[in-house]
Amino acid sequence: MTITVRTLTDAEERAAAIPALSELRIRIFRDWPYLYEGTTEYEAEYLAEFMREPGSALIVAQDGDAIIGAATASPMAGQKPEFQEPLRQMGLDFARIFYFGESVLLTAYQGQGIGHRFFDAREAAARAAGAAQTAFCAVIRPDDHPMRPEAPRDLHPFWRARGYAPVPGLTGTLDWQDVGDANESAHPMQFWMRDL
Ligand SMILES: CC(C)(COP(=O)(O)OP(=O)(O)OC[C@H]1O[C@@H](n2cnc3c(N)ncnc32)[C@H](O)[C@@H]1OP(=O)(O)O)[C@@H](O)C(=O)NCCC(=O)NCCS
Repeated sequence: MTITVRTLTDAEERAAAIPALSELRIRIFRDWPYLYEGTTEYEAEYLAEFMREPGSALIVAQDGDAIIGAATASPMAGQKPEFQEPLRQMGLDFARIFYFGESVLLTAYQGQGIGHRFFDAREAAARAAGAAQTAFCAVIRPDDHPMRPEAPRDLHPFWRARGYAPVPGLTGTLDWQDVGDANESAHPMQFWMRDL
């Protein structure tokens, strides 16, 4: 099968992808370090909301017709106020920042360069929108967390090689239910950024 990576722009095609994207996000984010206990109902609403955001970019990787990976990006100006607040407090002009929501790829397809193509496509979307900087968040987990695998893949060298760096002191929080927990909890998130 041929792997394709493309940006979905057609509204109907984007909406039709929601069930596959929900399943993909739940499956990949269940693993370390996100340990996310997702539900298809929440995912469907989250993705529909993302697709309504003006300027949102949805990139999908497909093996034949099957969606095996996805990445999202959208203007920081459209993010929730609590997510913008840490940037505002740092005096950053979030009007010119493009935010990368997630990139998820089935394990069997990792290590083949698709992650690079996701960054290429999202940075292209950011440039096309006139953004000056791009940003994403990564969860902060303690090294001694009981669910940390023996030798997890460290994405930091990849992100640094793409020109990103964690911004000292620029952190936020995001609530979700961890695998094995009964309720949602707040998770510290580190912002990573680069100039375009
Ligand atoms: C993030 C993700 C999409 C990257 O996808 P990917 O297709 O595996 O990435 P690539 O193949 O383009 O590889 C990127 C770099 O990581 C390296 N790499 C790939 N697999 C690796 C592994 N198992 N261990 C260490 N490095 C690895 C590659 O060699 C490449 O480095 P290079 O440019 O020096 O060659 C994928 O790892 C993923 O879905 N992770 C789980 C979800 C997640 O944490 N997402 C990020 C936060 S939202």
